[in-house]
Amino acid sequence: MSVKIQSSKNSANASNEAILHLVKKTQKWEALDLDKEAIAYVKAQLKKEKNLISIANLGKVEVIALDLGEKDEVKRRENLRKLGANFCGLVNAAGLNTARIIDHTDSVSDWYDIAEGVSLANYQFIKYRKDAKKELNSLEALAVQGKHATDAAIHKLNCTVDAVFWARDLVNEPVITLDALRIAAEAELRGKEAGIKVEVLNKTKIEALKFGGLLAVNSGSQTPPTFTIMEYKPKKAVNKKPIVLVGKGVVYDTGGLSLKPTAGMDTMKCDMAGAAAVMAAIYGAASMELPVHVVALIPATDNRPGEMAYTPGDVITMYNGLTVEVLNTDAEGRMILADALAYAGKYDPEVVMDFATLTGAAAAAIGQYGIVYMGTADEKVKAGMKQSGDAVYERLVEFPFWDEYKELLKSDIADLKNIGGPVGGAITAGKFLEHFTSYPWMHFDIAGPAYIKGNDSYRGKNGTGSAVRFLLDYLENRTK
Ligand code: BES
Ligand code: MN
Ligand code: ZN
Repeated sequence: MSVKIQSSKNSANASNEAILHLVKKTQKWEALDLDKEAIAYVKAQLKKEKNLISIANLGKVEVIALDLGEKDEVKRRENLRKLGANFCGLVNAAGLNTARIIDHTDSVSDWYDIAEGVSLANYQFIKYRKDAKKELNSLEALAVQGKHATDAAIHKLNCTVDAVFWARDLVNEPVITLDALRIAAEAELRGKEAGIKVEVLNKTKIEALKFGGLLAVNSGSQTPPTFTIMEYKPKKAVNKKPIVLVGKGVVYDTGGLSLKPTAGMDTMKCDMAGAAAVMAAIYGAASMELPVHVVALIPATDNRPGEMAYTPGDVITMYNGLTVEVLNTDAEGRMILADALAYAGKYDPEVVMDFATLTGAAAAAIGQYGIVYMGTADEKVKAGMKQSGDAVYERLVEFPFWDEYKELLKSDIADLKNIGGPVGGAITAGKFLEHFTSYPWMHFDIAGPAYIKGNDSYRGKNGTGSAVRFLLDYLENRTK
């Protein structure tokens, strides 16, 4: 259920609303409008050094969130989001439609982090269930009352949540309903709504352009590939050269002829999470009207072992003319990204950032807790990215990008092969991509965080919308 977030000047309408009071431990919280029972409860809890105190009374949820005593700002902000997610759970358990955050502090952004946690936690993907109506979360609206809850900040939050929900929906949608044609149609639909120029290259155009990697991966499929170009170019853009985002849009990855075992295939509808991230980010940036020129490129296809599927042993000529010896058809993401990255050069970009569920190796290395990144952008650019990753708790971990790894991709019969050796799988994948870049570039491997089995607070489960909040924060910072 999406949550409409609004700023509110009025004091609480007590009857049927869940309330979260945000106060500091050092504040006179006793002066709040609480009954005796509640005050006694807070006092008892405070003695136990708990930082979240919940009081459920008369079918109404009332929560006091005291400042959490965490010194590390990155962790502190994350705790606030998680607290918001917990509150969301309480509100839905009580079956209430509306909730209110009353900020009694002078903090500029604590309310924002809590509200973000509340609204992101309210996401569900249950439309294919017959009990969907019954199971739908009750929470529909969130009012925020506080001196820093400005309309601008609330608009930004609504746009962010909307974008993340869209990315999650795209990832959660199975390939039977979201194939390469549908993902392009989705981009067109939302693009129109937000004022983004969208062009979809069909198979004929893709053949004419000689996107050899995309066509090779698509050759085992009954559905044609698409290559979607989204461009958001506001009049007052701060950048002369665009920021180009590239997203891996493998709408389903069976592995192709190098077929995956069932156990490794069951989640592979998530293999377009990179595409979802960049589509949602450019959509969010346009909805917020950020003054930054952004282009998103989305190569899309499924990877299947059809009759004419590309084979281990094939030599493929890519868009930029390099030849690739295919030794594993399951290393398909890099094949389609390579063409898109080479094509990105046409824009004379300021920087290119690609997002992909690219390797099991990245997921194995750091799990769902962060994003692996590597590339050729300079230290200052990387520092800006790192900062955004910390700010939204989509933390970035830089992997080494030494030339030795490039050696592992040497082929006897072609310019390079599509797999490295048994070591450094995430890095050799990155090094493969580097061959197709000619500008400052960073590669983000989101195989770990993009799709998760268990519930993780406000990230939910299944599609998480990984990298959307990171990108929105990064693009917003670029405008400052
Ligand atoms: N889509 C997979 C990577 C993946 C794994 C994404 C787990 C999400 C979760 C990718 O196309 C793939 O199959 N990679 C191979 C590369 C190998 C054949 C060199 C891998 O990581 O095993
Ligand atoms: Mn694969
Ligand atoms: Zn894949």
